[in-house]
Order: sequence, then structure tokens, then C-alpha cells
Amino acid sequence: MLTQRLILTGDEAQDKQLIQQAAAIIRAGGLVAFPTETVYGLGADALNPEAVRRIFLVKGRPAWDPLIVHVDTPEGIFRYTHAERALVEPLIRAFMPGPLTLVLPKREMISDIVTAGRDTVAIRIPLHPVARALIRYSQTPIAAPSANKFGRPSPTTADHVLDDLNGEIEAVLDAGQTPMGVESTILDMTTQPPTLLRPGGVPKEAIEAVIGTLRSLGQPIAEGEALPAPGLSARHYAPSARVLLCAPTPEAFYGTLVDALSQYGFVGAMRPKGWRVPQSPRLQVFEWGAWGDWETLAQRLFLGLRALEQAPTHAIVCPLPPEEGLARAVRDRLLRASQPPKS
Ligand code: TXA
Ligand code: MG
Repeated sequence: MLTQRLILTGDEAQDKQLIQQAAAIIRAGGLVAFPTETVYGLGADALNPEAVRRIFLVKGRPAWDPLIVHVDTPEGIFRYTHAERALVEPLIRAFMPGPLTLVLPKREMISDIVTAGRDTVAIRIPLHPVARALIRYSQTPIAAPSANKFGRPSPTTADHVLDDLNGEIEAVLDAGQTPMGVESTILDMTTQPPTLLRPGGVPKEAIEAVIGTLRSLGQPIAEGEALPAPGLSARHYAPSARVLLCAPTPEAFYGTLVDALSQYGFVGAMRPKGWRVPQSPRLQVFEWGAWGDWETLAQRLFLGLRALEQAPTHAIVCPLPPEEGLARAVRDRLLRASQPPKS
């Protein structure tokens, strides 16, 4: 199969035509990768079980790991879930459209394939105008995981999508780099209080300011273990190189790089602005951004991991962000990416 790259240039009429072309593919049961404000998604008609089944096939995603359904209006949330209005309306008002996903009791028309047999469905309203137009023109909700092979870093450019899925999907809508770079925050609304299943684009603190203290999950669960909440496998988002984390100080970063160079052939550095690195022809540096500028560091996280693995490198050294605000999402992805593969 030839994967079409539909390049959006900002020319309104032309972009509209390309998005409509992509929508026609979705309606016909095909797969289209598209930009959201977080990462690129791999979309299919959420009401077409055969189309959704193909997402699992091309991603190599286990059938137990359910998908997020994307809708373009709050009404979509009530159409496909049994959401209690009083419970979700404050969140909709505060954060939607945007990078917040709610897990809610599903309605009949959402098939077991989307939800991996669960009676809940994860649902969100993306903010990216291309994602919203695609949903609108498709006239159907769109089921979409991140558009990477299972376990790999999420794609933040159309090139990343094609690196993983070229020849396996009908098209990718290319609107350049995604603005946030980390996935949506996932909140399980079926517990009291709601449970934070995955930190993401909307910080936990911002949600707590609206609905009060959340329940948090403890440790990530080991790969392949029975999952109380799916998609929380310890190892995830991992490039082919080992990810080595260090304390977030210039000294620890420098020292960990020296150690890594003594143990691995080629080494990558996710370098915060101005931090020192050892001189070595075997060291590849990715200029990550200013430490503390979490918007930039989040946006460039997967970009850096993918660039360094392709350099290529055997190990990537990266300082670990603190557990607060948007940094929490970056920290979560790095902790998972650094888990050694199960042998
Ligand atoms: O920002 C995002 O959320 C991106 C863009 C494309 O929207 N999507 C994304 O999808 O990150 P994915 O499939 O890579 O991650 C979705 C996570 C998975 O960990 C999955 O297990 C969890 O959501 N999930 C889906 N349905 C669920 C459910 N009913 N209950 C609990 N977790 C669920
Ligand atoms: Mg994913």
C-alpha cells in the first residue's frame, strides 16, 4: 500500500480539500494519521469495528489495550457515554477542547473492540483545528491511539508517523510538529474521587483546582501483567537505545554521560540549554531546551528521543524532571522509556 502524505500549507481552500479527502478515507473504513495538539493519532471510524481492528494490526497493539474516541463537541461525549452532566460539565468548561481524556461508562454503539471489552470508553475533544475538521467532515467519532508502533515514542511529526507506519496506512495529514508533544491527561471518572490514570497535557494541579483532590495510581505495572487500568505497562514510549536517567543537575548530567561513554559505543544527550557535556566523537547532542521551560521540553521530548536513536546511539542520557505541573507528564514518559526491555 502507498501511504499518501497530505501536506497542509495553510492555504484554506486547499487544506479543506485535503482534510475532506482524508475524511473520505475514514468513512470508507481506512486509516488516516492526523495531528492533534498532543501527538499524531492513528484514526479510524470508531463505529466501524473492522476499521478499528486494523488499528490494532498495524500498530502491533495488544487487543487488551483500549483506544481513545475523539469527538468534536461536548454533545459527542454525551452521545457515546453515560456521563453524569453535573460531574463532567465543569471539566468540559475548563479544559475542552484540549488535552484531557475522560474515562466514562460507554453506550451501546461503541464496540468492544474499541474498549477492549470494557464497559467504559476513553473520550476526548481535541483542540487542533485539523483534528476537529477531520472529525467534522468524517461525520463520525474517530478512534485513535498515538500513531506509532506499540511501545515506541509517540510521533510529533508526520515523518515520525511514516518512520513507523509507512506503507501500512492509507494517509497521513501533515501539519508539521504538534504543539504540546506529550499525550492527553487521562482521568477515570468512574471512581470517586476520579483517578488520574496518565499525567499529560493538562496538569493534575489544574484539574484539582476545578474538581478537588484526585486519586493517583501508585507504581507503573510490569509489562504483560494483568492491568487494573490498561496502557500502564511499565515499559512504553521507548526508543531502540537504552534511556539512562540522571538527577536534574548539570553535574549529575555530566557524570552520567562520562559513565555512559565508558560503557556504550555511541551515546546521546538530551541536553538542557547551557549544560556541559564531555568532548567525544561518540557523543550526539540534542539541544532539548531550557531546564524548567516545560512547554518546550514536553514539545521536544519525543522528537529528541527519536532523533538520538536514529543518530544512531546505544544509550541516551536524560535528566529527570520533577513531579509537578506539565513536568509530571515528561517525567512519566521518561520513567517508562527507561525501563529495560523484558528478556
Ligand atoms: O493525546 C492523546 O491522548 C493521543 C492523541 C492521539 O489523542 N492518544 C493517545 O492514545 O495517547 P494511546 O492509545 O496511545 O493511549 C491511550 C491510553 C492507553 O494507555 C489506553 O490503555 C488508555 O488510554 N485507555 C483507553 N481506554 C481506556 C479505558 N476505557 N479505561 C482506561 N484506560 C483506557
Ligand atoms: Mg500511545
